[in-house]
Amino acid sequence: MVLTQGVFVGVSVAYVTFADPDGLDDEKEVAVAAWAEEGITGRIARWDDPGVDWAAFDAVVVRTPWDYVSRRAEFLAWAHRTEAVTRLFNPAAVLERNTDKVYLRDLDVPSIPTYWVAPGEAVDFPVLGEYVVKPSISAGARDTIRTGDRKEAEAHAARLAAGGRTAMVQPYLDMVETEGETSLLYFGGRFSHAIRRNAMLVESATRPGRGNDHGEPRVPEPDQIALAERVLGEFPEVLYARVDLVRLADGSPALIEVELTEPYLFLRYVPGAAATLARALAEAL
Ligand SMILES: Nc1ncnc2c1ncn2[C@@H]1O[C@H](COP(=O)(O)OP(=O)(O)O)[C@@H](O)[C@H]1O
Ligand SMILES: [Mg+2]
Repeated sequence: MVLTQGVFVGVSVAYVTFADPDGLDDEKEVAVAAWAEEGITGRIARWDDPGVDWAAFDAVVVRTPWDYVSRRAEFLAWAHRTEAVTRLFNPAAVLERNTDKVYLRDLDVPSIPTYWVAPGEAVDFPVLGEYVVKPSISAGARDTIRTGDRKEAEAHAARLAAGGRTAMVQPYLDMVETEGETSLLYFGGRFSHAIRRNAMLVESATRPGRGNDHGEPRVPEPDQIALAERVLGEFPEVLYARVDLVRLADGSPALIEVELTEPYLFLRYVPGAAATLARALAEAL
């Protein structure tokens, strides 16, 4: 690659998605169009396409491999293989750590109180009112339940553990339906935009029994920015990050998860967001 008047010439970068039979990723085109403005030729490719020569790219940006949950080992093996031949964003070690929410236990930031049930462990948690029970490896609230019935919560945790998965048991925070979850997007370590996300464990007109994962732009509060930046301090090497925050009963902000693998980035919601990501990518190259 060469740099001519601040613009790359002949740089090619893969935008990594999955087979996506339903066309769920509706931001790949806007992302790649913004890369072109930086002189970066983007090519949309499936992570599991055996015909792709990853070494031919100057960099590979993991974006929407939304089928990795049931194929995590295969996906991580692909990430490590790819990183051996080109630059991978985010790095394979980050993807490996971030695709299992057990990382939440090791982060020195406030998160939702969680009772963990690993395979072979007894199911043991206190009375919490309403419960959320979810697998530690998940996305899009897959295999996640919300219930006021303690027996049902125990049974779901036991079922996940019996299937070799680690279950997470949390109190249901109803603020996700009022204030809403706040997602802060950072590109190249710099704040880009924030989104109020809709609650997912509710009935919705579009997806009965399950809300949708979209939302609207929001201005984050200073305490949310402070927490998001503490979280990001733990992952200095990432190109893109989405820090998903809730509030606990006492009003203090807490991390629900940090998405460093396959976050939807809400690029079409805020003017300039795709350009900010493209600039961060150009700088990283
Ligand atoms: N403890 C909780 N209280 C309220 N809602 C929750 C809770 N945990 C998860 N949810 C809902 O389920 C969604 C998905 O859960 P999350 O932990 O973000 O896992 P993932 O997005 O990886 O499936 C959240 O965005 C939120 O709407
Ligand atoms: Mg989430």
